[in-house]
This record gives sequence, C-alpha cells and structure tokens, in this order.
Amino acid sequence: MSASPAPVSPEVGSAAPTQADLLNFVRRTASDAELIASLPLDPEGRTWVRLEGPGGSEAWLIGWPPGTGTGWHDHADSVGAFLTASGTLKEYSLAARLPTDGWKTLELTPDVDRERGLPAGQGRAFGRHHVHEVLNDSRDEHAISVHAYYPPLPRIRRYSRTGHVLRLEQVERPEDWQ
Ligand SMILES: [Fe+2]
Repeated sequence: MSASPAPVSPEVGSAAPTQADLLNFVRRTASDAELIASLPLDPEGRTWVRLEGPGGSEAWLIGWPPGTGTGWHDHADSVGAFLTASGTLKEYSLAARLPTDGWKTLELTPDVDRERGLPAGQGRAFGRHHVHEVLNDSRDEHAISVHAYYPPLPRIRRYSRTGHVLRLEQVERPEDWQ
C-alpha cells in the first residue's frame, strides 16, 4: 500500500500578505537608508515613489513637507501598514467599524477618535475599512514614510469631517491616480 502523496507546500510568497507581513515590509524598507535618501523631496508638496510590495501588494515611499496631510479617507477593502522612516507623522483615526457602502453622512459618537504620534521607526498596521487622516504637523521637519496595501488599492474613499459628522465626498479608483 503506497503512502499518500506529501501535501504540496505552498510556494513562498503565494499567500496573500497579512497585516503583519505588510508591517514587516514597511519596517524593513524604512531601515534602508539609501532608498529613503533617494526620495526626491519638495517643500511645496508631497512626493512619492512606487515600490514593489510583498506578495503583489501596492507599496509607496512618501515624502511629507511640514504642514501636509491626507485628509480623512479609507482604503475600503484593503488592509495595510505604514511606518515613519524619518521625521514624525501624526495619525487621527476612528476606533469604529464603519459600514463600507450605503451611506453619505455618519454622526460619530464622541469616544471613537484616536490620535497617535509616529516618530521615526514607529508605524502601524490596519484592517479593512480603517478610516484615518495622516499628517506631518511639524513646523520645520520633512517626514518620510513607507506604506503597503493589499489587495492593491481598489478604491480610496475621501471624507470631510465637521465636528462628529463624517461625510463621504469622493470615491477614487485606480484610474484616477495613474
Ligand atoms: Fe491611508
């Protein structure tokens, strides 16, 4: 009687990258001083370079002059991670699971706002539907960060925020930012 065939082991890199994989990637990438130094910086606005993320993920190196930020947005059904390579970033986020579709405005309860400072070497991973705003609120120091998303961003949804009210303003698709 013959033994059953050994299970085929999955090819390295064939599985969808997890939040932990993405965080490992952004941490490793942020420690590549030569790569970080290669990003062109512009005092007038953000700069970015596309990177090859692990397992087919979408990755970016982003430069943030003082006072720049993203505004409130989410990455719909993608998970992601980002980490500050130099300078300091601030993230405002919502500790609430929001419905993806089917609403235009949402009144938040007062207890869902979170704020964290991310100095060089610190970052975070996030799950689907994570609503946040990232900014460099330094007066004089540029910041550089590394970001990775999986699946590659299908949509970015942009919100305005008035007090506790979040309003969906725009849905961007990949063709909008190619
Ligand atoms: Fe984001």
